[in-house]
Amino acid sequence: MALPGEEESTHELLNAQTLVWNHIFKFMFPMSLKCAIELNIPEIIKNHGKPMTLSELTTALPINKAKSHYIHRMMRVLVHSKFFMKVAVNYENEQNEGYWLTPSSRLLLKDSALSIAPLFLLIHNPILMKPCSSISEWFTDDRVTAFETAHGLKFWEQAKEDSSLTKLFYEAMAGDSRFVSQVILKDCKKLFSGVGSLVDVGGGTGNMAKAIADAFPEMKCTVLDLPQVVSGLEGSSNLNYVGGDMFEAIPTADVVLLKWLLHDWDDEACIKVLKNCREVIPAGKEKGGKVIIIDIVLGYNNENDMVKEDQLLWDIAMMVYLNGKERSEKEWKQLFLDAGFSSYNITPILGVRSIIEVYP
Ligand SMILES: C[S@@+](CC[C@H](N)C(=O)[O-])C[C@H]1O[C@@H](n2cnc3c(N)ncnc32)[C@H](O)[C@@H]1O
Repeated sequence: MALPGEEESTHELLNAQTLVWNHIFKFMFPMSLKCAIELNIPEIIKNHGKPMTLSELTTALPINKAKSHYIHRMMRVLVHSKFFMKVAVNYENEQNEGYWLTPSSRLLLKDSALSIAPLFLLIHNPILMKPCSSISEWFTDDRVTAFETAHGLKFWEQAKEDSSLTKLFYEAMAGDSRFVSQVILKDCKKLFSGVGSLVDVGGGTGNMAKAIADAFPEMKCTVLDLPQVVSGLEGSSNLNYVGGDMFEAIPTADVVLLKWLLHDWDDEACIKVLKNCREVIPAGKEKGGKVIIIDIVLGYNNENDMVKEDQLLWDIAMMVYLNGKERSEKEWKQLFLDAGFSSYNITPILGVRSIIEVYP
């Protein structure tokens, strides 16, 4: 690296250009993937039941057939980014190559219970993309978020007015809750053992609480979310929905779950919610009272470069959309102390996110 007054070598200059070019066009990766999701390419390949040759794929795709010859270029990028793989197939007695799914494209199948496709389409919806082009403007105006700079409304206000955004948002949350509950109930079920009652605050349409209630039939589970989110939702013998405002009151329970919630909010709001949680759980760790937080802890698991990148990018996303943030362990600890909790424990078993148990 050249120091002040020195000139870069040609090698350094070319590397620098490569990095800039990479950033100019990197958005083509998600754009190509968005195209594949919208054209149902993962479903088409899955329903074919075996690796699909290019001509089989182009025949099956709902596209203008005059454009079929472009498909292999898009698939080439998606193979490079590991969303599809190419495998050898014996086709009409000739060796050929076919496209097949990878674990990541399987997570984009729209009919899969664990689908991340709704989250992908939510983030790549023009309503959430526009604020990403307004960040420098936001730095100079007096709006709270770039979302507000772009649309004149806060995220939750816009969501209230736009039913298609709301639908996509809660579908995205539901998919994630099914995903996270599957991992936790498989690898960390002890998190809930012995718990008599649990309230999932900001629990959305209740998919996380449903999975917990099914796995622990003796546990009394409650989902608290905004009245317009839970109205009309049906509970079960050990699951019920409560419409309300977590800044006002939280139903009493042994354990409060805050999944993917606090990163939406600034510190002041988080402390208010955490204080409300502390009031409704039994005082003292020995009595089983705790708050379980599922969120990113910056720096955890980030020896994996992609995890590290995901954590940094989620932080920017929370700043742009919601005035929220991702937090380091030090920042989490400060929130817990400010809300009157005495100790915590971090279990980093969720890849990009962690489980934090917080004790009164
Ligand atoms: C990012 S979502 C997380 C949803 C769910 N916990 C999950 O992980 O799938 C945040 C949730 O907080 C809810 N929420 C926002 N403001 C709230 C409030 N004042 N009181 C209760 N819930 C609220 C939203 O409706 C939404 O369901």
